Amino acid sequence: MLSFEDEGKMNGIAGLALQPKSAFVPAAGPAQERFVAGNAFRRIRVEDKRIINSKADVNQLVPFKYKWAWDKYLSACANHWMPQEVNMSRDIALWKDPNGLTADERRLVTRNLGFFVTADSLAANNIVLGTYRHITAPECRQYLLRQAFEEAIHTHAYQYIVESLDLDEGEVFNAYNEITSIRDKDEFLIPFIDTLTDPGFRTGTPESDQALLKSLIVFSCLMEGLFFYVGFVQILALGRQNKMTGAAEQYMYILRDESMHCNFGIDLVNQIKLENPHLWTPQFREELHELFRRAVDLEYRYAEDTMPRGVLGLNAPMFKEYLRFISNRRCQQIGLDTLYPGASNPFPWMSEMIDLKKERNFFETRVIEYQTGGALNWD
Ligand SMILES: [Fe+2]
Ligand SMILES: [Fe+2]
Repeated sequence: MLSFEDEGKMNGIAGLALQPKSAFVPAAGPAQERFVAGNAFRRIRVEDKRIINSKADVNQLVPFKYKWAWDKYLSACANHWMPQEVNMSRDIALWKDPNGLTADERRLVTRNLGFFVTADSLAANNIVLGTYRHITAPECRQYLLRQAFEEAIHTHAYQYIVESLDLDEGEVFNAYNEITSIRDKDEFLIPFIDTLTDPGFRTGTPESDQALLKSLIVFSCLMEGLFFYVGFVQILALGRQNKMTGAAEQYMYILRDESMHCNFGIDLVNQIKLENPHLWTPQFREELHELFRRAVDLEYRYAEDTMPRGVLGLNAPMFKEYLRFISNRRCQQIGLDTLYPGASNPFPWMSEMIDLKKERNFFETRVIEYQTGGALNWD
């Protein structure tokens, strides 16, 4: 029979049923999950659940505390799509036609894919090997599992476009090593991925909790919420001119998914802030501002590199304004002061794209109603 005096000696042994006396909060990860499993006889209470450093059992989805995360999981499932449902035949014919696209338009497409073909693998690895371990709310983990699958679908979609157009796979998939403007974006991100995927990283101190929060902000606000947007505008602008409509259709579904990933990440960040207000220090906010400035600069250089001259009625300076506009929006969403007062949106049509409804078939390339299980065949 355990007594309170045995607590110190028994620390870390599965089956320990006592709450720690100290303020120490066990770090997220396998050790914590074993610890909690030993408390199975004790039913969890909503008030014990927390986004990080929770002491409640991570295996029990209910009772719900973070209903917004569960609702996003349901919405994401309702938006399910697969790349091969989109007809690529018009894109293939246009790409093969020597007069189908200008040299600048072809450069834009290949550089665009050069970023995206590896970006979603980075995003997926960051979730599966990093973020997921450190988030202790099961509703949020449920959404992250769905998000990870969507990142796989996005990588599939980009690969499907590369294959359909018969592009040089080696060139496109190595662009993140070989093209400076793409490599610089990825090198900006990698330290934040490394933080979360380091097997030795544990939350539970102000410093490590800030490191986690910073990585979550970099991924949701700056990668999914900013680094993707030059690329989305470019391909959707092609689609609006009735070019590469299959690729544009794929990007519209990806944009819809990504805008939900971004919004989920922002909700996660805001909830962590609410539960841990001591993390949001003036110095931390200044560090974030510096990251926002660098990210806008890197994405602008990518815009210049993909569009050395005006193309499709777009040019790099328009993107400077757009990126400043998006940066302001992301800052507002997480409660930071904005950096670029007065920046406006030069692409108001993008808002319509983001609000894409499931039944909408913008480029008339896809049979729209997705039916789960509709293609099952038991023979
Ligand atoms: Fe993605
Ligand atoms: Fe994403």
